Amino acid sequence: MIYKSSSIISTIELRIEKFFEGDSSGHDYHHVNRVRCLALQLAKKENADLFVVELIALLHDIGDWKFHDRGLNGQAEILAEFLKDLNIEKSLLKRILIEIPKIGFKGAEVKEEDLSLEAQIVRDADRIDAIGAIGIARCFAYGGHKGMPIYDPNVAIAMHNNAMEYHSAKSPSIHHFFEKLLLLKDRLHTKSGQQLAEDRHQFLLDFLLQFFREWYGEDEIPKQFNLNRFELKER
Ligand code: ADP
Ligand code: NI
Repeated sequence: MIYKSSSIISTIELRIEKFFEGDSSGHDYHHVNRVRCLALQLAKKENADLFVVELIALLHDIGDWKFHDRGLNGQAEILAEFLKDLNIEKSLLKRILIEIPKIGFKGAEVKEEDLSLEAQIVRDADRIDAIGAIGIARCFAYGGHKGMPIYDPNVAIAMHNNAMEYHSAKSPSIHHFFEKLLLLKDRLHTKSGQQLAEDRHQFLLDFLLQFFREWYGEDEIPKQFNLNRFELKER
């Protein structure tokens, strides 16, 4: 088949390196590449189509709502533009334009949209890269990039129930752990992804426990940041 060609992958890879050059929001080329490697690792275990997984992984952050003001539908338009001269088979292109905008997190109480196995795998890989040590680094990089404070004791956690609200929220980065990052472990699709996430999830909890102990002292952690409900295992 014409579209199963490694030259499409290498052309996209080169374009992506350029596209994300100089990014300081945690959405750089290395994020994309980590997601691609993780996704391929999961795809082999889940017997998914490796070419489709690699393609979706490489493209998943192109046109993300966080980096333009063209609204929720902007991503498909930007992706179409990015891919227009690549001769990707029509049905595959259609699938990419429909599925990629559904991958990202849209708010703690927003129902996730259904995806094919290949897109589920990329969603899992993207979420695994949002937790653990790398996830913590990315969270504060993104918060700084968008002008959010590290932490504000006067702000309440918000469980967003629509995407627009989630997108326009200006939560401090520590709140983002409770509004998204700590929820990801239980929202992964694949068994192999769930196994990988376990350790990284505990690392988020270890970090938060230490952060709050430094901020408040041993017994003064505010109730809204109770970590036991996220299965904290003190080590
Ligand atoms: P998704 O599409 O699911 O949001 P991304 O690949 O775009 O996934 O990664 C989102 C990254 O941005 C995560 O590492 C997350 O920690 C960070 N991020 C998003 N919103 C915030 C926020 N309000 N505060 C801090 N970090 C954020
Ligand atoms: Ni991503």
